[in-house]
Amino acid sequence: MHKNISKIAVLTSGGDAPGMNAAIRSVVRTGIYYGMDVYGINRGYHGMVNDDIFLMESKSVANIIQRGGTILKSARCMEFFTPEGRQKAYGNLQKHGIEGLIVIGGDGSFTGGLKLSTEFNFPVIGLPGTIDKDLFGSDYTIGFDTAVNTAIDAIDKIRDTADAHDRLFIVEVMGRHAGYLALYSGIATGAENILIPESQTNIEDVIASLSEKEKRKKLVNLIVVAEGDEFGGALEVAKVVKERLPQMDTRVSILGHIQRGGAPTCIDRILASRVGFHAVESMIQGRYNVMVGIKNDEITYTPLEIAIREKDKINEEWLRMVKILSS
Ligand code: ADP
Ligand code: F6P
Repeated sequence: MHKNISKIAVLTSGGDAPGMNAAIRSVVRTGIYYGMDVYGINRGYHGMVNDDIFLMESKSVANIIQRGGTILKSARCMEFFTPEGRQKAYGNLQKHGIEGLIVIGGDGSFTGGLKLSTEFNFPVIGLPGTIDKDLFGSDYTIGFDTAVNTAIDAIDKIRDTADAHDRLFIVEVMGRHAGYLALYSGIATGAENILIPESQTNIEDVIASLSEKEKRKKLVNLIVVAEGDEFGGALEVAKVVKERLPQMDTRVSILGHIQRGGAPTCIDRILASRVGFHAVESMIQGRYNVMVGIKNDEITYTPLEIAIREKDKINEEWLRMVKILSS
């Protein structure tokens, strides 16, 4: 038997992602619909440790579904890594009578949430909020679609200038440990090479393929590199290319935090709205310590430890296809 939960809190944590606001809106409005008190916690676990917690109303989340960033702000909180910090945070939740927590964030934020839930037997539900798309149990994460479209827009523009000057561009996209942003944006912009941490980067293959293209007078080339690629980012790749192929006119572009901002796409707004809504219903039904995601258009509930630990495998077919399509 689970007890009825009537006070919940929501926070956003780790790297922000477009669509987090839509998820906050969905949690707050659904909670209020079911007669709950819904508290907002500012700056992720930092606000929990420092009691920056406030009661939200339906109008607190008006006019935010279309906005990037997060109205609850996000932070990385070192104190929450310590048992003392978590004890303090739990004390603040108790002070407000909060009985359940919804964490919108990535694997680090879920790890923090899982510790809270295990150490204090406290109900926690995670919503996948990261541009990296590196959580197991959901086809997409909130923010990925927007970020990948931002990267595509930027890379298309880079290709125009690359084409005008017959240049090789090495473009670095985000992805701390995951290559999905690179893989999707690279395929969608017709990149000649895509370097990702999930697949061993052989720099000799990259050089050989560029040389072969040069012989065919194919001088406009685009390499998309994930920042987390084990060979290093775009600067490392460019260093080797410039040494080995000095005659190539090579430039580097690091897209950086532009990928984290902007109005969320339709896909991210709908994903965020759906998982927020189901997270509250799941809390009411007594299904905790799970990440609410979507797979094949169906809502999924993945135990937090599995969502963090397991990794989706990159489809090798995609990598094979990239080689053929970029020839
Ligand atoms: P993301 O959620 O985007 O992966 P981080 O890895 O930066 O972001 O984690 C966000 C926050 O979650 C950290 O600053 C910390 O407060 C909390 N957190 C992450 N890992 C742990 C952990 N092992 N123990 C306790 N808290 C953690
Ligand atoms: O996890 C999301 C992410 O944008 C990663 O892709 C990137 O490596 C990291 O956050 C950057 O973090 P920060 O904003 O702290 O520089």
